[in-house]
Amino acid sequence: MSSVKKVLMAPQGPEFSQLVQGYWRLGAWNMDPQARLSFLKQHVEMGITTVDHAAIYDAGHCETLFGEALRLDPAMRSKIEIVSKFGINGIEQTVGEKRVSHYDSSKQAILTSTENSLKRLGVEQLDALLVHRPDFLMDADQVADAFGELQQSGKVKHFGVSNFTASQFDLLQSRLDKPLITNQVEINPINFSALEDGTCDQLQQYRVRPMAWSCLAGGGIFSEQTDQARRLRGALTELADELGADSIEQVVFAWVLKHPSNPVGLIGSGKIERVKEAVAALALQMNTEQWYRVWVASKGFAVP
Ligand SMILES: NC(=O)c1ccc[n+]([C@@H]2O[C@H](COP(=O)([O-])OP(=O)(O)OC[C@H]3O[C@@H](n4cnc5c(N)ncnc54)[C@H](OP(=O)(O)O)[C@@H]3O)[C@@H](O)[C@H]2O)c1
Repeated sequence: MSSVKKVLMAPQGPEFSQLVQGYWRLGAWNMDPQARLSFLKQHVEMGITTVDHAAIYDAGHCETLFGEALRLDPAMRSKIEIVSKFGINGIEQTVGEKRVSHYDSSKQAILTSTENSLKRLGVEQLDALLVHRPDFLMDADQVADAFGELQQSGKVKHFGVSNFTASQFDLLQSRLDKPLITNQVEINPINFSALEDGTCDQLQQYRVRPMAWSCLAGGGIFSEQTDQARRLRGALTELADELGADSIEQVVFAWVLKHPSNPVGLIGSGKIERVKEAVAALALQMNTEQWYRVWVASKGFAVP
């Protein structure tokens, strides 16, 4: 199996692997620290060197579990790029007094959340820090101020956003000296609103790669019993046959990665066999008509 290549995320941005291992579901994988380390080493061996975390994943527990594994072999740190996110709940500031889940992108919340992520992961620096979700109360100057401080102190190398609209992206970018390196958004054949609402157009325009989350719709592609999901499974099965793919997972990853905004694809499974399915997708050559067959199956009607 060929190795997953590294790609430039944005002008002046970092290089990430074209497939990124997501660690949101790590708590459910029931792995001991050694198994977690072994899983990490196996995907790094395939070239999947970038890992995705967030402060909110299992209220910090996912980062703690990952950090525990990394401490077993500290040399692994230099072989990976770690992405984390801040901004949901302001959980660190409000433990014991939190009334509702909320977003907090105040300067102090960003600094505290990042500090806690670094501690849990047991590392000195994040390769990238993303705003997890747009905060209605986001003051772009404060965010820029926090980013500047984190970069100056060497705690974070690059910055990006997640689930931002095109205008929210432009607002924050207007206060920064360096390009945001990504907008991490949901892209899959069940939900491709990022392809329709201008999000991916903007990223293509700026030559910034999206990080596509839930490429398999959180497993919904396989399990949902809606007409849409049934139509999709039919089309994907037919395409798997045509493309010589071993599974419909491979076809879905190929479909997501074909978009000209050049997404990197996030993998959500903790099963190494399923990680290999995503890697195998990189070898598939999907043509334009085949891409649209998935579009038509998802919509349930032909292109106008
Ligand atoms: N920025 C954001 O707001 C945001 C939101 C969501 C996710 N993310 C990131 O994106 C990453 C990926 O998201 P995701 O976990 O939703 O990805 P996903 O690949 O769409 O979904 C993964 C789920 O699909 C299941 N699955 C995979 N292959 C399957 C198959 N052949 N049959 C049945 N089920 C299958 C997996 O189960 P198994 O574990 O059993 O394989 C897992 O539960 C996350 O880890 C996180 O890092 C970011």
